[in-house]
Amino acid sequence: MTAGGESPEVVGPLIRPRRLRRTPALRRLVSETTVRPSQLVLPVFVREGIEEPVPISSMPGVVQHSRDSLREAVAEAAALGLGGVMLFGIPTTKDAVGSGASDPGGVLNLAINDVVAEVGDALTVMSDLCLDEFTDHGHCGLLTPDGEVDNDKTLVAYAEMARAQAEAGVDMVGPSGMMDGQVAAVRKALDAAEHSDVSILAYSAKYASAFFGPFREAVDSSLEGDRLTYQQDPGNAREGVREALLDVAEGADIVMVKPALAYLDVVRQVRDAVDVPVAAYNISGEYAMVEAAAANGWIDRDAAVLETLTSIRRAGADVILTYWAADAARLLTR
Ligand code: PBG
Repeated sequence: MTAGGESPEVVGPLIRPRRLRRTPALRRLVSETTVRPSQLVLPVFVREGIEEPVPISSMPGVVQHSRDSLREAVAEAAALGLGGVMLFGIPTTKDAVGSGASDPGGVLNLAINDVVAEVGDALTVMSDLCLDEFTDHGHCGLLTPDGEVDNDKTLVAYAEMARAQAEAGVDMVGPSGMMDGQVAAVRKALDAAEHSDVSILAYSAKYASAFFGPFREAVDSSLEGDRLTYQQDPGNAREGVREALLDVAEGADIVMVKPALAYLDVVRQVRDAVDVPVAAYNISGEYAMVEAAAANGWIDRDAAVLETLTSIRRAGADVILTYWAADAARLLTR
């Protein structure tokens, strides 16, 4: 009662967004963003000449697979309903031109054979199409005598690598070396070899990122120096959109932005600019940061994993490559 005796007027907001957050059913009903196992792709590493999987210390929970453990991992990925797997190979010997990449008996091409034999059409089988795991200098391309990355010579090597991967049975190749014209060169090579059904996931906007750090251990990288002459400057969003448009014009079936988290604005801009599916790669450093914080008890791992994947979907990615794909599928279906 007020001093005057009349009832106080109830004052409060007329519009109350919290009404739709009251119960789990209401929250589910108005949820804007979905993450489904079928939208997730698991990157996997297979190393030549090992009998048992080797843990990658910079990526706790991720291993370099043997040929046998790879088969088990992809069978599990298929059982979980994932969209696909992206294969990376780690050869025992490297040379200046990355010969192992196009050798039908090379580790990555054998892994493609194995995975296709194991899962058939139950997963989209994808392979990294880049020379860096196979070259002794660790660059994504071939070098000129004075040590520069030679764009057009590299395209010839990528064309050969694409043919070898297609012969091995891959569904989709992922050119990731950021050479100019790589999508057109790969498309042409595939079509000429009667593999017009093999699709291309183009690493279109790939930034020279510090967050790739843990991946270097994952693939035993030989790189000294950096990739600044071919990967993009982290400040350039417009250029990322341009790269994606160029790749669509060259025949890319899906374009990708990589890394994901520090580039969510680029994911959104690319999504709005192209009419093909957009992928984003939730990379090694993004994985390692959450895992390290969780191991210290500083963060709720499972919640952080799902929030991370939701943010990438919300930004506009149709497909997410993530080392959490299998774990996330388990969390989403429990
Ligand atoms: C190049 C390639 C890289 C990654 C995927 N493909 C490494 C690089 O460009 O330095 C990084 C993936 C990750 O960090 O999770 N073949």
